[in-house]
Amino acid sequence: MLARQLGDPGLARGTRIHYHSCSTMRRGSILLMVGVAVVGVVVAIAASLLHDGLSSRATPSKLEAAIARNAHRLAIRSDARSAQNPVIASEEDLRTARLHFADHCATCHDNDGSGQTLYGKGLYPHPPDLRLPETQNLTDGELFWIIENGVRFTGMPAFANPEEHGGHGGSLESWKLVHFIRHLPHFTAAERVEMERYNPKGLDDRAEEQQENDFLNRATPKPKRESQNQHPR
Ligand code: HEC
Repeated sequence: MLARQLGDPGLARGTRIHYHSCSTMRRGSILLMVGVAVVGVVVAIAASLLHDGLSSRATPSKLEAAIARNAHRLAIRSDARSAQNPVIASEEDLRTARLHFADHCATCHDNDGSGQTLYGKGLYPHPPDLRLPETQNLTDGELFWIIENGVRFTGMPAFANPEEHGGHGGSLESWKLVHFIRHLPHFTAAERVEMERYNPKGLDDRAEEQQENDFLNRATPKPKRESQNQHPR
């Protein structure tokens, strides 16, 4: 501009080129910096997600744990979140829920909700300890929604549709399970003993149980057999 005022068109053109190349360079270096920052963030996220060769024995990074735990919270509609439990739990309902949990849930969550089972420890993400505030602070509606709909990209199955899931028993059963989850922080040893009888068993466990029963039966022989011994033919 100054050059044009001074009547030197050549200088004016040169100055414009200079200004132009300066601003192009500045834009270029900003783009470069943004590019490096984006690559850095992508590498950090990838390292956070892809660690330990994608093994499900690994412990999730803080970032993954936060994403996984908050994703379903965002996905649950607010009316579902604020839904009230229609079941006023009687002793009988609590027992039903306990045995139901033993049969359908404890394989992953353990009877006491700790998640310390063979399957629980092998899943990625691991089932959370249901006794802790992170779960207990969820609303009844959120717990119910998770039981009915499951959590995508995790081992948590959806239990709605009783026909498809071996008779889970319909939504009232899920509401009873919500009561049981609320009770978990006060879980007792007697409840564990009761539930262990209803946990799904493998062949080894069944064989061991049979041996124990046989042993007990031999230790207390039946009166009929005694009388047979006393009067051999
Ligand atoms: C095959 C394993 C498996 C079974 C069976 C299973 N769960 Fe889960 N559950 C999980 C996993 C894994 C998670 C963690 C999901 C996540 O990271 O958000 C989970 C999460 C949950 C949560 C959410 C806890 C929270 O704080 O976000 C609830 C509630 C729950 N399960 C209840 C149940 C109930 C009730 C049953 C039985 C009817 C059941 N689960 C059966 C694996 C299982």
